Amino acid sequence: LPLEGLQAGGSGPLYLKLRQSLEDAIQSGKLNHGDALPPERDLADYANISRVTVRKAVDDLVRDGLLVRRHGSGTFVVKPVSKVQQSLSRLTSFTEDMARRGLNTHARWLERGLYHPSPDEMMALGLPADALVARLGRLRIADDMPLAIERASISAEFLPDPQSVTSSLYTALDKTRSRPVRAVQRISACNIKDPDASMLGVAVGSAGLSIERVSYLASGRVVEFTRSLYRGDAYDFVAELTLSE
Ligand code: GLP
Repeated sequence: LPLEGLQAGGSGPLYLKLRQSLEDAIQSGKLNHGDALPPERDLADYANISRVTVRKAVDDLVRDGLLVRRHGSGTFVVKPVSKVQQSLSRLTSFTEDMARRGLNTHARWLERGLYHPSPDEMMALGLPADALVARLGRLRIADDMPLAIERASISAEFLPDPQSVTSSLYTALDKTRSRPVRAVQRISACNIKDPDASMLGVAVGSAGLSIERVSYLASGRVVEFTRSLYRGDAYDFVAELTLSE
């Protein structure tokens, strides 16, 4: 990193000069996306400046989304993201949405089992307290980018064995002939907090989209109640609007 001349060159606060040289290093590819930043102590020694100054410059770049801190492992250069555009009006699964864009999906399981429903689940799924609900919590990853945290609740009647969901929930529901045909989805803006932020690899406070989907069978029964949190920098919803007659 070209940090030697920091003290000498130009006027202005040191931390801004350091910030600029780190930014230049990212832009010019000297620091690549996914690279770890050298420890702050090394940067300070190398550039012959205080650690406070280094921290201030790094904080700035984290706030602006160029760097991300991961607990226990260091500070990394953020991969620039191209947004995934999602049509608002089609009832598709995450796996299908990503496959259409040529992206492979995988998941990190956060939760997968049968439970008694929470009050929210009882309301959304129309179930009594002693019923059973399959809960599927997943960090959903497209190619290598964590895109969303998704927590789905399905009445055990439609999904008696949550372990049968290996990759796609909708494929598993197809098999029990309970794939939803209609859904109501609510989207709202939020700021992503920890631990979600570190799972998604974004700075705490970054913009997110919070999405709730309630899906129905043709009979009108509710199949699915799902809460998702998408990275705001990686997801776009697109709706086609027509003038009604
Ligand atoms: C989307 C929806 C979820 C739904 C999921 C199913 O992400 N927001 O409500 O549960 O798709 O995706 P898959 O079949 O890939 O598990």
